[in-house]
Amino acid sequence: MDFASIGSTAEVSIPKDPLLQIIGQDHAVKIGRLVGKQRRHLLLVGPPGTGKSMLAQAIASTLPKPKQEVLVLHNPEKPERPIVQVRSGSSRRSERLPAGEIIEPTMVPFYVSEKLGFRCRRCGRLSSPDASSCYFCGADKYRKVRGPFDDLLLGSGAPEREERVYTTRMRDGKEELVVFERRGDKIAILTQKELAKRAEMQQKMQFKVLLPLNRPNFVQATGASETELLGDVRHDPYGSHPAIGSLPYTRVVPGAVHEAHEGVLFIDELSSLGRLQRFILTAMQEKHYPISGRNQSSTGSSVRVDGVPADFILVAAANINDVHHILPPLRSRIIGNGYEVLMNTHMEDNEENRLKLVQFLAQEIVRDGRIPHADSGAIAEMIEYARKKAKEIDGVSGLTLRLRILSGAIKMAGDIAASNEKKFITAEDVRFAIENAKPIEEQATERYGSWYKASLADYGLKKERGGSEVG
Ligand SMILES: Nc1ncnc2c1ncn2[C@@H]1O[C@H](COP(=O)(O)OP(=O)(O)OP(=O)(O)O)[C@@H](O)[C@H]1O
Ligand SMILES: [Mg+2]
Repeated sequence: MDFASIGSTAEVSIPKDPLLQIIGQDHAVKIGRLVGKQRRHLLLVGPPGTGKSMLAQAIASTLPKPKQEVLVLHNPEKPERPIVQVRSGSSRRSERLPAGEIIEPTMVPFYVSEKLGFRCRRCGRLSSPDASSCYFCGADKYRKVRGPFDDLLLGSGAPEREERVYTTRMRDGKEELVVFERRGDKIAILTQKELAKRAEMQQKMQFKVLLPLNRPNFVQATGASETELLGDVRHDPYGSHPAIGSLPYTRVVPGAVHEAHEGVLFIDELSSLGRLQRFILTAMQEKHYPISGRNQSSTGSSVRVDGVPADFILVAAANINDVHHILPPLRSRIIGNGYEVLMNTHMEDNEENRLKLVQFLAQEIVRDGRIPHADSGAIAEMIEYARKKAKEIDGVSGLTLRLRILSGAIKMAGDIAASNEKKFITAEDVRFAIENAKPIEEQATERYGSWYKASLADYGLKKERGGSEVG
């Protein structure tokens, strides 16, 4: 496809691969692919709107789905030290409770089948436990001795059948405990050994899924708080009171470092994390990070879960000026096991790159979903705008890659076209949008002559200089 022959952005095909949707950053994209494949870390440095967040997300999209499910289990010996269990996707089913041996209702002692609701107490014949009266003699199977006030006391037909009967039997000269359990139309018999195993497993089955198997593999940490990043054990006013409190394991919440296990942990403006960077470094070194109650006055603070997996790919973003505020050992960790990439701010103004800009416009329009496609006039106008911005901001002749600016302009033009119910965005819409999408700095400079004068005008110290009222 050559540039001159494009009638509108509707004709442009958009690549399915999110990495190929990133334009003008070939080096960063190439490294991004490697990072995903080899599980390295990545620091992206560059100005706003050049695709850092977009790249981080695209990397995550190349990763396989998480394979591990992470659980926290109740620790009966030490409830405030819940146990972590990592299991790979398929192992879950194998941990079924022992089912026991299934037998026919005819094979159990009479009183057992009576209690379980199979046998009629009056005629002694067997029928489904779901039927409340005997098929054969019509007797009510679930009532014991009928007294004159039973109906008043129990309500009519209160069931008396039992789910399970505990009893003993003789085996090899020894008496052992067995349990008969109702299983639909059959009865299960569980031995002492199976019962012990079941009790043990039930205790173990007091768990909470901390990281489910189907979790997103892109996690963005804003670094707003320590608990968001590292997890927490919530406060319970009743602490671990056995009767009314909640067990500590139920109150464990994962942090971003855990949620990103097997995926990408994206941190925008890494340096703004300040001292929290140290924790990221530790997690990266250990590949797991303990979760503990972070509020000292909370009942959660006595709880700690060790060894919670936190094996993530770190993708961090920073502006050039902030690079030196990144914790040096963290940076050296990234360099030692990953890459640092400086994003491009512009690209050469040639046919190939103009086509890429058209692809970009098509992407923005389709992703927005509320605006019509751009016709060739609008496309030409947008390309001119990209040239202008490259000159204005970076002092180069080329096409800008500060694409958030372009994205804003095409969407605004689209809104105008949409509000006029036009089939396409035209050059006119783009010109109007560009004129009106000016940032405050530009509007003020135009109106007052300079930003400095504009700031004085705000205090009323200087009269507003003549100039256009419309900015
Ligand atoms: N290289 C690019 N290719 C295609 N689209 C891009 C590119 N860069 C930016 N965009 C568009 O601009 C939007 C903003 O980009 P993104 O959020 O990735 O920028 P950023 O570098 O993370 O900026 P910031 O530093 O402000 O977080 C994207 O959603 C996308 O629509
Ligand atoms: Mg970003």
